[in-house]
Amino acid sequence: MINLIWAMDRNWLIGKGNILPWHYKKDLMYFKEKTANQAVLMGDMTYDSLKSYYKTKPLPFKEIYVASITDRTFEGATKITDIDTFLKETEKDIFVIGGRTIYKLSLPYADKLYITWIDKDHDGDVFFPKFDLTRFKLISEDKDDVLNFSIYEKVKP
Ligand SMILES: NC(=O)c1ccc[n+]([C@@H]2O[C@H](COP(=O)([O-])OP(=O)(O)OC[C@H]3O[C@@H](n4cnc5c(N)ncnc54)[C@H](OP(=O)(O)O)[C@@H]3O)[C@@H](O)[C@H]2O)c1
Repeated sequence: MINLIWAMDRNWLIGKGNILPWHYKKDLMYFKEKTANQAVLMGDMTYDSLKSYYKTKPLPFKEIYVASITDRTFEGATKITDIDTFLKETEKDIFVIGGRTIYKLSLPYADKLYITWIDKDHDGDVFFPKFDLTRFKLISEDKDDVLNFSIYEKVKP
């Protein structure tokens, strides 16, 4: 099962430089709860961003896959150079945790989406790639002030 998890504002904004444009404690807690001890896939930019957030602490995931097409190696992680083959062939539950490039490449394989909708306009420069949300069915939502924790499942053809 391929899960994508992200937070975005009314304009589908997800980033500012290589950080989040906001600080919502409840969303960070939600992200941690959903991804703790899971296998995660992320791009090298998101890996660097998380590493600076966790500083010397290990990242709290069971397995870490980092997408990169350079020679770079990633401490404590497996490098993925071919995302399509990886997502097509894996039998694991994977959480794709960003960023924009890796979400875009992973969307065709997504079975489940965990979207935190933020009902506000923020400042930033990285947007979630446009895609057809009607291919997914809303299965749960939980509103908390400006946040709406929504879960979608792919509609079977
Ligand atoms: N709001 C949210 O929930 C959320 C979550 C996560 C991230 N973000 C935001 O997203 C932004 C980062 O997104 P980003 O797109 O710049 O970076 P990213 O997706 O984290 O990483 C992009 C990297 O993926 C690698 N890559 C590209 N194409 C590839 C391919 N076909 N196969 C394998 N690897 C490939 C490249 O690494 P190499 O150059 O090493 O080859 C590229 O630098 C930041 O602003 C961050 O704050 C937001």
